[in-house]
Amino acid sequence: IIVAKNEAAAQVIVQKLDQHDPIHPVFIHQNRVALAGIKNISEADQQVIADQVEEIIENHHSAIKSSRAFHPEDTIIKTKHSVIGGKNFVLMAGPDSIESPEHVLEMGQDVKAAGATILRGGAFKPRTSPYSYQGNGEEGLKAHRAAADALEMDMVTEILDTRDVDLVDQYTDIFQVGTRNMQNFALLKALGQKRKPVLLKRGMSATIDDLLNAAEYIAAGGNDQIMLMERGIRTFDSKYTRNTFDVGAIPVLQKLTHYPIIADTSHAAGHSEFVTPLAQAAVAAGAQGLMTEIHNDPSHAFVDGAQALTPAQYQVLATTVRKIHEVIA
Ligand code: E4P
Ligand code: PEP
Repeated sequence: IIVAKNEAAAQVIVQKLDQHDPIHPVFIHQNRVALAGIKNISEADQQVIADQVEEIIENHHSAIKSSRAFHPEDTIIKTKHSVIGGKNFVLMAGPDSIESPEHVLEMGQDVKAAGATILRGGAFKPRTSPYSYQGNGEEGLKAHRAAADALEMDMVTEILDTRDVDLVDQYTDIFQVGTRNMQNFALLKALGQKRKPVLLKRGMSATIDDLLNAAEYIAAGGNDQIMLMERGIRTFDSKYTRNTFDVGAIPVLQKLTHYPIIADTSHAAGHSEFVTPLAQAAVAAGAQGLMTEIHNDPSHAFVDGAQALTPAQYQVLATTVRKIHEVIA
């Protein structure tokens, strides 16, 4: 990454580099120019470039557009009802899956009352077993959209398949890519062509570099509205929690990338009693938002009832995490 003396100097550098070389693309952000690879440049051009340079950042992350070295300021994503990133704090919550129009509306009312501005819910469910509930597809998307509109909230829902991009796009405000699809490159490329926020969950066995490179697939297509989500990873001990919540990933990601970092402690904990303490830890570590699953009757939830908070428990979570965020922001 070349830090030029100013934005005009960065433009001069870019002009000297072939921007149409698909193997070594050139990126510019304010006074920073990045090259994805080494290029052959004439000696005369090398001298012109050298005259514009303030600093060269070597050994930067391979996920260039996603890296803070290239884009130092926080990305702020604005949706109709939410501001995500920077010093802002956002709550996303709702049922795991869309069960019925009445249910998603009722859950939406509860999470909105607790301060959430984004209503979550899955209509396409990624299940371990093909015989488990797979979601109600477009019917669920319609119910979810209607509830979000009635409550003046944003909608986030998972997309599993490139063939559904246009369908889901008709309804949702934010695309969710789940842990199982973090490296579904065809899906990431398709979402890179959209100009709508993408919530990218960390793969359950993905390193931080894997996550950043997955985000880069979306950014490379031109969509820079990306949020990253820590949701727990697989480790040797999954007896007491469903996944190991990697709280350290939050400050590490904030150092490496400018995208908002959100935590889902429902899938990390797997048991409702641990969802709130992990959420508190996530916010204390700097998470700029939380995703949480709720259900008014967890033992009858279609999916993942064990990790669902009741509306009353969610109210407690929301109140305490906001206080923690005020202290650390
Ligand atoms: C819901 O959020 C997911 O589909 C779920 O966590 C997958 O869980 P499963 O292993 O029970 O299918
Ligand atoms: C979800 O949020 O509905 C979900 C399936 O989560 P994850 O991809 O983290 O398992």
